[in-house]
Amino acid sequence: MKRIPEALVRDIVSRSDIVGVVKEYVRLEKRGARWLGLCPFHNEKTPSFNVNPERGFFYCFGCKKGGDVVTFVKEIEKCGYVEALERLADRAGIPLRYEGVDDAAADDEKKRRDAIYELYERLAGSFHHLLTEDARGKPALDYARARGLSDEVIASFRLGYAPGDRTWLRRFLLGKSYSPEFLASSGLFSAKYPEVCIFSDRLMFPIHDARGRCVAFGGRLLAGDGPKYINSPETSVFRKHENLFGLSKAAKSIRDHGRAVLCEGYMDAIAFHAAGVDYAVAPLGTSFTETQAAVVKRYADTVVLSFDTDQAGVKAAERAIGLAEKAGLTALVLKIPDGKDPAEFAQKYGHERLKKEAESTITAEEFLLGNAAVAFSRGGTEGVAAAFSYLFPFIAEYTSELRRDAFLETAASRFSVDPASVRADFARFLDRGRPRPPTRTDTTEKAFTPGPDAELLAALACHPALYAQFRAVLDPSFFEDEALRSGYIALEECFRRDDPGPAAAAAAIQDGSLSAFVLDRAATGAYDADPQRFVADGVLRLKEQAIKKRVQKLVARIRDYDEGRDGDEVSLNELLYEKMHLDGELTAIKDERNGR
Ligand code: UTP
Ligand code: MN
Repeated sequence: MKRIPEALVRDIVSRSDIVGVVKEYVRLEKRGARWLGLCPFHNEKTPSFNVNPERGFFYCFGCKKGGDVVTFVKEIEKCGYVEALERLADRAGIPLRYEGVDDAAADDEKKRRDAIYELYERLAGSFHHLLTEDARGKPALDYARARGLSDEVIASFRLGYAPGDRTWLRRFLLGKSYSPEFLASSGLFSAKYPEVCIFSDRLMFPIHDARGRCVAFGGRLLAGDGPKYINSPETSVFRKHENLFGLSKAAKSIRDHGRAVLCEGYMDAIAFHAAGVDYAVAPLGTSFTETQAAVVKRYADTVVLSFDTDQAGVKAAERAIGLAEKAGLTALVLKIPDGKDPAEFAQKYGHERLKKEAESTITAEEFLLGNAAVAFSRGGTEGVAAAFSYLFPFIAEYTSELRRDAFLETAASRFSVDPASVRADFARFLDRGRPRPPTRTDTTEKAFTPGPDAELLAALACHPALYAQFRAVLDPSFFEDEALRSGYIALEECFRRDDPGPAAAAAAIQDGSLSAFVLDRAATGAYDADPQRFVADGVLRLKEQAIKKRVQKLVARIRDYDEGRDGDEVSLNELLYEKMHLDGELTAIKDERNGR
């Protein structure tokens, strides 16, 4: 849907100085007409990475990667083609135009998003001014300083203050000629009472996307009652589960160090940065997500988990270890001694010591073995059993047999048991864990699986017009989860009896937890900022996932094809034809996505 006109692409490429762009990531030295440096795409000690400004390309003789400036940005930022162009256009100060199926709509959409970026940027400035220069912000400033934040850190993170008067912001922004409709979609005001700002009398933490644009805020309570932190809701430019606090500041350092520190809170991330550990990031008021793990993986192969030492922190670390493992990240654990979290530690002992502490990591295995040892200390066979039943689920996450084996071996020797029995027990554990074919009773009792599929279903339930629009391309079988599949069928029933809306959907959905989930999303207005896009993206993803599953099955059938057995039912040719057809659909989906 979103395409940048050919001529404009050429313009962006020709006006982007490839040496300047590459230099933001790689140290280059001039050698005659070209530039030389250490390749950012593979490990090397002698430079074989060349940049040729005259002809506008880069090439590495070591790993053979090469291309124009757009390819470079795509590869180094692991982003798509359009995003690479957007970044370059931004950098060169070239205004973008899009074309495509839905030119005017895409244009409007882009304008609206740009207006939101601009609003948040201005607002971050205003909040910062209120904190640092305005009498109203003085108590907040005192609070920030008392928590050990220097003026330099306050400036560098552009911390701010949202005044206590809840209606001030709206008046202020209407005065700057923003429209009420636009403000309602900005994520800054209560959905129920549009004149009320969700932040009041709070210390404000601007949240940036990976490209450094302010897209949301976290606000900390200063006095009185209320949640300790309030975070912006999702908007058309802000997705909680994708963003990480501090990422745009930390990105380069994460790449340089090959690791990111992941901590729990805004204050912790800031404490690390102040201590010179400028590769620290934090999730945003949610626990670490799969998408965030994938984001970290774009920049580094190692993630250092620095969670609170309390029970909740240990649980969070365990979860994060599983996610890191799945994303192909090596997880290390940082145990900050004496003090609940890194921010407290820094305040108590100073930033120098926090920086030192940041080096004393243990491996995820050591961390887990330590926790298992607590269970083990119950003693006897019961202790041994408890230790291993704690460990097995983590070991099961390992995709590498070698690492599994090594971990089992270490655990066996740590708790002085026979490695052969440990392996046998683990095999039994895996066997038990394997999903059984679902039976009738299973389906009615099993709760739905939360995740993107469930979010899509909820969005469709909240926006019946979008259901009407997309039902033709959707199919219940796309939903792998039983509960979601019957949930989808319930939506179709509502549609047919012309009974739209989340409440009707929730009533029609049998699974109680899924109904509650739908209502929760409707109540928080989770998708209200840009439902069209959320649903369109979700539908495309779901369809692709379903087709891929079918292709997998087909490939297996083709591979095991036996003329004698299968021949009567369906010919090999038909199977091959079907596979070709599905491959074509996958390509079409990819094109649609890339075209955006
Ligand atoms: P913590 O409760 O550990 O807060 O929550 P903190 O970072 O230590 O805050 P300080 O040091 O007391 O100021 C960790 C993170 O969880 C989210 C925030 O992102 C916070 O930084 N959170 C916490 C919320 O979103 N809402 C809350 O009410 C509490
Ligand atoms: Mn904390």
